[in-house]
Amino acid sequence: MSHWEKCYQDGDTHWDRGAPSPPLAQYTTEHPIGGLVLVPGCGTGHDAAFLAAQGADVTGLDIAPTAVERAAANYPELAGHLVEGDLFDLPQTWNDRFDHVVEHTCFCAIPPAMREAYCAAVHRALRPGGTLIGVWFINPELDPGHEGPPFPSAPEELDRIFGQHFDLITDYVPETAYPGREGRERVRVWRKKG
Ligand SMILES: C[S@@+](CC[C@H](N)C(=O)[O-])C[C@H]1O[C@@H](n2cnc3c(N)ncnc32)[C@H](O)[C@@H]1O
Repeated sequence: MSHWEKCYQDGDTHWDRGAPSPPLAQYTTEHPIGGLVLVPGCGTGHDAAFLAAQGADVTGLDIAPTAVERAAANYPELAGHLVEGDLFDLPQTWNDRFDHVVEHTCFCAIPPAMREAYCAAVHRALRPGGTLIGVWFINPELDPGHEGPPFPSAPEELDRIFGQHFDLITDYVPETAYPGREGRERVRVWRKKG
């Protein structure tokens, strides 16, 4: 059983606030997105359902079967759009498929050594010119001695990882956040080169 599946089965899902990410909701309300949208690490479905309600054709992906089950129970309208699977082992049929990938607390959940692989997976799934829209957890304020997840991601680290393959087109500290995450996240949108 994966670490994440165990968390869901044990009820250790402190990250799940029962609602979409406020900065993501704000950004996509101001800049509506349509077309094919992939939400990796969708958890129990709040972000995916929000984007689907805005009119996007959303696929929610999660490695934890219990998360996928709960997402389908929370949002029955999403049930046919949820996939249990590994971001690092996407089907070949998803190459160049998505208009947008929406990131929220998946990148900070994976080990830092896998970040280049995350970039490669997202790059492969996006069509040329497609965008990676993310709420990046810059400073999770970890307790002393706790290394994560969530793993912090400094803007310079994001530049290093994504800059070669994507153009940065939006970058700001959002005014809205879940309680307790104020000032600790960043909205960044990257456009796939080529
Ligand atoms: C911190 S949780 C965030 C869930 C959701 N985005 C939210 O904010 O409620 C990270 C999620 O990423 C999923 N995940 C971790 N590694 C993954 C992988 N390699 N492929 C797909 N999902 C993964 C976990 O199962 C978990 O649901």
